[in-house]
Amino acid sequence: MTERFADHPFIRACRGLPHDRVPVWFMRQAGRSLPEYAAVRGEGSILDAIQDPDRATEITLQPVRRYGVDAAILFSDIVTPVFASGFGIDITPGVGPTCEHPFRSAADLDRLRPLTEGDLEFQSETVRRLVAELDIPLIGFAGGPFTMASYLVEGRPSRDYAKVKALMAGEPELWHRLCERIADLAIATLTDQVANGASAVQLFDSWAGSLRPEHYREYVFPHSSRILDAVAELDVPRIHFGITTGELLDQIAEAGADVVGVDWRTRLSDARQRTGGRVALQGNLDPALLLTPWPVLEAEVRRVLDDNGGHPGHIFNLGHGVLPQADPDQLLRVVELVHAEGTARGDRA
Ligand code: CP3
Repeated sequence: MTERFADHPFIRACRGLPHDRVPVWFMRQAGRSLPEYAAVRGEGSILDAIQDPDRATEITLQPVRRYGVDAAILFSDIVTPVFASGFGIDITPGVGPTCEHPFRSAADLDRLRPLTEGDLEFQSETVRRLVAELDIPLIGFAGGPFTMASYLVEGRPSRDYAKVKALMAGEPELWHRLCERIADLAIATLTDQVANGASAVQLFDSWAGSLRPEHYREYVFPHSSRILDAVAELDVPRIHFGITTGELLDQIAEAGADVVGVDWRTRLSDARQRTGGRVALQGNLDPALLLTPWPVLEAEVRRVLDDNGGHPGHIFNLGHGVLPQADPDQLLRVVELVHAEGTARGDRA
C-alpha cells in the first residue's frame, strides 16, 4: 500500500523514526468538552450520531480545526460493531454502554454474529469522507477483548468487574468462545477502517489493567495477539492502550503493538524499560490536570516531554480521555507547547 502519510510526524513517531516535532492528539478530543459538539450531536443515543456520516464526519473534524492536532480519531465507539451485529447494546447518556440482556451463557453467542456486508457501511462512508477531507492521518479503532467482554457480561459500566471476572476464571471455555467472537468483530472493523483509508489503528482495552498479569496472559493476551497480528498485514501502525496497565506493559507490547499507550501512573521512562524499548509510547498527561491553572499544566506538559527525553518514539497524549469539563483553550495551549518545545532526537538527515 502506498502510504500517503508515511512522512507525517505522527506516523514516523509511531514507527520510532526521527522527525521534526513531537506529534500530539488527545483521546476523546471530540465530544462533550467542545461546545460545537453539543450543537451537532442531537438528542438521543450517541449511536444515532455515529450512524449518520454527516454528523460523524463533522464531529471528527471539530477538534482538528480547533487544536491543530496531528491525528484525527474516527467519531464512533467501541460498541459500534457489537451494536451493528444486533447483540442489543445501547449507550445510555451519562452512564455508558448498557445491555438489556447481558451475555450469560453459550446461547448468547448467537447474538454476537459475525458482521455481514453492509452492517458497517455507515462507518465506512464516514471514514471515506474523512480521508478525502483530512490532511493528517486518521486513526481507526476497536475495543479490546476484556473491555468489550466487560460491557457485554456486566451489562453496564462496572467498578469491580465481578461478573466478567467470574465468567473468565470460572467458565474459561465459554470465555474463550466469547473472546473469539469479540476478536472477529474487532478484526473486521479495523480491516474495514484501513481499507477505507485509516492510517493507523488503536485497540482500546481500557479496563484490562484490572487483571493480574497471569490472568491477562491466559485469558486476554491470545485474543489481543490475534487481533493485532491480523492487522499487521495492513501495514499501518497499531496502538494498544489500557489504563492501570503498569504491570502489563510488557505483554501489551508483546501482543503485537507498534505503540503502547501509557497512563499517568507509569513514567514514560519506566514504560520504555518495561517494554524493552521495542515500541513507541503514547501518553501520558493526567487528564485531570487540564483543569489546573496554565502554569501548573505547562510544568506538567514539560515534565512529560522531559521524561521522554527526546526519544523519537513518542506521541504526546493524555493518559486517558479528555474529561467533559476540560476547557478547550487549555488543550489548545498544550498542543502549541508540545509543537514548540517537543524535540525528537535524531534530526532527519
Ligand atoms: O474523540 C474520540 O475519542 C472519538 C470517539 C470515541 C467515543 N468513544 C465517543 C463517545 C472513542 C475513541 C470512544 C471509545 C470508547 N468508548 C472507549 C475506550 C476509550 C476509553 O475511554 O477508555 C470506551 C471504554 C467506550 C465506552 C463508552 N462510550 C463510555 C464509557 C462512554 C461514556 C459514558 C458517559 O456518558 O460518560 C461512552 C459514550 C461516548 N462515546 C461519548 C462519546 C463522545 C459521550 C456520550 C455522549 O455524547 O452522549
